[in-house]
Amino acid sequence: MIERLLILTATTLLLWAGIASAETVDFRLSDNCPPSFEESAAGTCQLRTMYDFYDSVQGAGLGGTQTSLPPHRDGFSPQQIDLGRYLFFDPVLSRDATVSCASCHNPEQGFSDDLPRSRGIGDQEVARAAPTLWNTAFLNKFFWDAHATSLEEQVVGPLFASNEMGNSPEDLLATLSTIPAYQALFDQAYPQRKNGPIQLDEVYHSLAAFQTSLISLNSRYDRYAHGYHAALSAPEVEGLNIFRSFVARCAECHTPPLFTNQQVAVIGAPEPEGRPIDVGAQITYDAPELKAGFKVPTLRNIAQTAPYMHSGRFNNLREVVEFYNGGRGHAVPEGVDLQLHWHISSPDLTDYELDRLVDFLGTLTDESLKPEVPSQLPSGLAPVHDKPQANIVTTQKTSGDAS
Ligand code: HEC
Ligand code: HEC
Repeated sequence: MIERLLILTATTLLLWAGIASAETVDFRLSDNCPPSFEESAAGTCQLRTMYDFYDSVQGAGLGGTQTSLPPHRDGFSPQQIDLGRYLFFDPVLSRDATVSCASCHNPEQGFSDDLPRSRGIGDQEVARAAPTLWNTAFLNKFFWDAHATSLEEQVVGPLFASNEMGNSPEDLLATLSTIPAYQALFDQAYPQRKNGPIQLDEVYHSLAAFQTSLISLNSRYDRYAHGYHAALSAPEVEGLNIFRSFVARCAECHTPPLFTNQQVAVIGAPEPEGRPIDVGAQITYDAPELKAGFKVPTLRNIAQTAPYMHSGRFNNLREVVEFYNGGRGHAVPEGVDLQLHWHISSPDLTDYELDRLVDFLGTLTDESLKPEVPSQLPSGLAPVHDKPQANIVTTQKTSGDAS
């Protein structure tokens, strides 16, 4: 209890220092939708992409290169998106004002971090690796084990987990309400609230609004998909063809255009040396057959987000493709019985083909809509978009051996 009071006092002091300097800044939320969004008559932002011109097979965005995207979230106002941007980078959301969402979802690192397992307040380790947030607007399941079904439900996790941001709903609201600049910004983003107290739902909603603006659909692959064939080199096209072949079967799960079919699959990726098996979606669905099942992650901006897998077990993409080529179930520990997905095969690709797969994965990079990091925050604190400052601990790197 005393420790908690001390931390609160530290936050308050930081805030006092901060508010003094923030008072001079006149914060105003953007009146414009982000690029790639068009403002509707009702004043909300609607996503427009080249994929809108295509039909979809089964209404699910499955199929070839020219197929429409699955349903997505949009329809937020420009002000709500911009408020979410301030909150996303503001460490004031964490219990001791050291960690922001961007500490683990750093835009400079594909909205992920470079750790096998993320670190939260007090440098505490989180159980899994941070996924990218690009294209979360299209997802209907969140977390590696798919235990949340909306961004609003998801965000409660990091905000209040003791090893992530460590806050409590009461303290979060109490802190935000002491910051006049936030009060003013919430009024701009939610005019119908008529200057009432800041609500948790508004915090969740604006963070969701910001995250749905993180769209990555203009990679060189996309230009190729839309018919500009010179966008990919010959080796990259070879890689694409291996990726979608029925030998490698990558596209069966990492289905274009999102490069995920949003299902849960058991693929038998290894845990780092000495760590017990993570049962993943078995708990979410109370289904033993989904032991070690994880949500199929998007591969958009995948070159930016090493290390890979829920456990950060692989340091680079070459190690990942070697894993898929190592033979069905080769990395499953002895005595552990997993029901591997039927698309996990033993493709027996050559070294040359593995290199082409890695080449192709590199064509999925597009950060052209990367939002600007705010130069100043309503809390007066410095925007945090990197690991907690105290984190100088060397992370346990897994060996370069992929098998
Ligand atoms: C301490 C590091 C850390 C912080 C801080 C953090 N996250 Fe995360 N985030 C993670 C990790 C790790 C996961 C995956 C956890 C899991 O699946 O078990 C994750 C998952 C997510 C996901 C799910 C993505 C997907 O594809 O399933 C979203 C969305 C997300 N975080 C948004 C946020 C937002 C918004 C904030 C700030 C309120 C935030 N995160 C703060 C580490 C962090
Ligand atoms: C049966 C479905 C399935 C197939 C087929 C499949 N994957 Fe995956 N992929 C997954 C799942 C599930 C994960 C996450 C597993 C984990 O974290 O343990 C994943 C993870 C990855 C990752 C790491 C993503 C990240 O953000 O860390 C890459 C890269 C990847 N797959 C590429 C490929 C390639 C290349 C192929 C074809 C050789 C392929 N996948 C085939 C389901 C599949």
